[in-house]
Amino acid sequence: MNNLEASSRERLMTQVHDQYRDHVNAGYARLASLMNLPIESSGAGAHLFDSDGNSYLDAGGYGVFLLGHAYPDIVAEVSVQLHSHPMASKLLLNPFQARAAAALAAVCPGDLQYVYFCCAGTEATEAALKLACLNGCQHVVSMQGGYHGKTLGALAVTGNALYRNPFARLLKQSHFVPYGDSQALREQLQSLPERTCVILEPIQAEAGVIRPPAGYLRQVRDLCDEHDAVLILDEIQSGMGRTGRWWACDEENVVADIMLVGKSLSGGCVPVSAMVATPRMQEPLNRNPLLHTSTFGANPLAMAAVVATLRVMQRDALVQRAQRLGETLQYAFETLLRRRQWSSQIQLRCAGLLLGFEFSDASLAANMVMHLLAQRIVVNHSLNDHCVIRLTPSVMYGDSDVQWLLDGFATALAHTLSP
Ligand SMILES: Cc1ncc(COP(=O)(O)O)c(C=O)c1O
Repeated sequence: MNNLEASSRERLMTQVHDQYRDHVNAGYARLASLMNLPIESSGAGAHLFDSDGNSYLDAGGYGVFLLGHAYPDIVAEVSVQLHSHPMASKLLLNPFQARAAAALAAVCPGDLQYVYFCCAGTEATEAALKLACLNGCQHVVSMQGGYHGKTLGALAVTGNALYRNPFARLLKQSHFVPYGDSQALREQLQSLPERTCVILEPIQAEAGVIRPPAGYLRQVRDLCDEHDAVLILDEIQSGMGRTGRWWACDEENVVADIMLVGKSLSGGCVPVSAMVATPRMQEPLNRNPLLHTSTFGANPLAMAAVVATLRVMQRDALVQRAQRLGETLQYAFETLLRRRQWSSQIQLRCAGLLLGFEFSDASLAANMVMHLLAQRIVVNHSLNDHCVIRLTPSVMYGDSDVQWLLDGFATALAHTLSP
């Protein structure tokens, strides 16, 4: 880099930092300075690029980039939509919404067939809680460690008190039970006299990739049936092929009454999420469609992205590819941890392309994120357990990306564990 380039880089860095400090969030600006975070400029496939043109292997993105960045077919379809009709009137029939709803319903399990599109995962949670309410539910049972978003209703069922307590006065009562403990759920349901809904993730992602014991989801389904409770499965992070199946609940052939979808639903191109309901659940909204609406929900840009994403995933068998790549990564990481005798210090948990590495304390996990960044690898920590770093790689990884990840990981771990 010559002097001119260095000084213009310095200027850009200062400008972005100042704008963050004064207009975005001063706390985040401080953190970014501390971590010396680069400026993100673009992405393609499995890679991110910073303002200096350096490339990074993206293994983060909070689960959004299963198809990598800017997947060409999806970008092309969204571009066509952008130039023809990016926003809908909301009064006339929206053919883009109808097409996307039918395409999503076609890959959903059982009779989950009515789709309500929104923009963020937390909005899908809100829609589901409202629909459960319209179906007569007066209580919500959710799981310790669960994560469903941060708007008020979603926050009420999110298991981490750190995010919930500052708003406790405004939140409605919900009941938390330990995740994976069907007896605790049984006792909780027995104690509630009115109709109840149960919300959980089939695999808890933000809790640090926690899988429940085998058979648990089936037991939850049976308990809900026994108590006439509504079952909401949040597949926002675990769904859309991330775990090597279309939906994590497929592993136990469990069908929810309401299912939540988000993250990679648009192939990482346009924000979109969805609530999918069975005809029985949908009845109150079929009677009065105006009970829950959103101006930007089901906008044609997002709908084009959804249709293109689902088509690409089926055409290129990306769910199967996620399963194979997940197995490859699991085997390689287990071998690495064993060979370097790190297995006693790190707990690895895998579910396809959702991987969690648990450290003995949060500062080690934070150091690991920094050391990985030095290897130009981007990962995430887990919102509900800061001891766990989480990897959500893309199915677009080639052999050289896998090697990059493994080599970078080995170097970063060596620095983290023996500084
Ligand atoms: C399982 C789950 N549900 C809901 C959400 C909330 O989604 P969003 O951040 O898009 O509102 C998340 C986000 O991480 C999630 O992992």
